[in-house]
Amino acid sequence: MNKNKRVGIIGAGHVGSTVAFILATQGICQEIIIKDLNLDTARGIALDMGHAASATKTHTIVRVANEPSDLRGCDVVVFCAGSPRQPGMSRDDLLLANAKVIRTVLSEVKPYIQESVLVMVSNPLDAMVYTAIKESGLSPLQVLGMAGILDSARMASFIFEKLGYGSDQIVASVMGGHGDDMVPLPRYSNVAGVPITELLEPQEIEEIIHRTRNAGAEIVGYLKKGSAYFAPAKSTAIMVEAILKNSHQVFPCSVLLQGEYGYSDVVGGVPVKLGSRGVCEIIELELLHEERERFDQSIQSVKSLIDALYHHAFFVSSRP
Ligand code: 2OP
Repeated sequence: MNKNKRVGIIGAGHVGSTVAFILATQGICQEIIIKDLNLDTARGIALDMGHAASATKTHTIVRVANEPSDLRGCDVVVFCAGSPRQPGMSRDDLLLANAKVIRTVLSEVKPYIQESVLVMVSNPLDAMVYTAIKESGLSPLQVLGMAGILDSARMASFIFEKLGYGSDQIVASVMGGHGDDMVPLPRYSNVAGVPITELLEPQEIEEIIHRTRNAGAEIVGYLKKGSAYFAPAKSTAIMVEAILKNSHQVFPCSVLLQGEYGYSDVVGGVPVKLGSRGVCEIIELELLHEERERFDQSIQSVKSLIDALYHHAFFVSSRP
């Protein structure tokens, strides 16, 4: 138990409530504060989850934010509010609707979260991280998006499925935006240090890349209503734990690039060293020509979403 650590969860839908459930039952923090538009739903979830914490003997206190000021003093705030995508929708289709949700909610809570690390989960993820940086007034180092851990977990799962071995030894690497052109990197994916390019045929690796990029849509297609939440929630909880413990572990996270990888004023998924203040360091990998081309394409897609927000005059300032 991290004594005195508090985590706020904004949006108690499937992802938000599952993040809270994982944190509460793992005893990663002392207190969880759930904020949702529907207060009674949040109250029910908080009460139920408090009982789960008691069953697992963590006794994490789970309570509801009755006022925005109840988020004061949170070490980490996880932002899951917004619409999930539905079958046939891309993450990008949620752009303006979820940007407005972020604006509305952050305008209420921002005075109380200036010392917190903000972990964004709402889609389209990278553009929402950008929006949150603009709307929260937080330093870009305090605002990170969760996607890379999820995408890498999906890739690792497909690698394991192909190989049939390697449990606890598979490292998968995915960079770029959390969109259809995310960049799985076979050269940086390995089993106990052995690159998967040595273990699998090129055709098998292509299948893994394809399935990783489409995993979110594959799940939406089956669920029919809403999108994946177990793996997104677990991936978010991993990030929260690293921040609370000031672990300095490296995870792929969506962050504002300020010169790294040759980009500025755009958000993308890159390896980040995580600490109690958020981003400690962005790690720049050497990319081969083809990897670099894919990365550029993915960042370009994020950039066009951000441009679209400016184009719709969502931000009053002009594009820097
Ligand atoms: C996913 O990839 C919802 O973006 C999330 O499943």
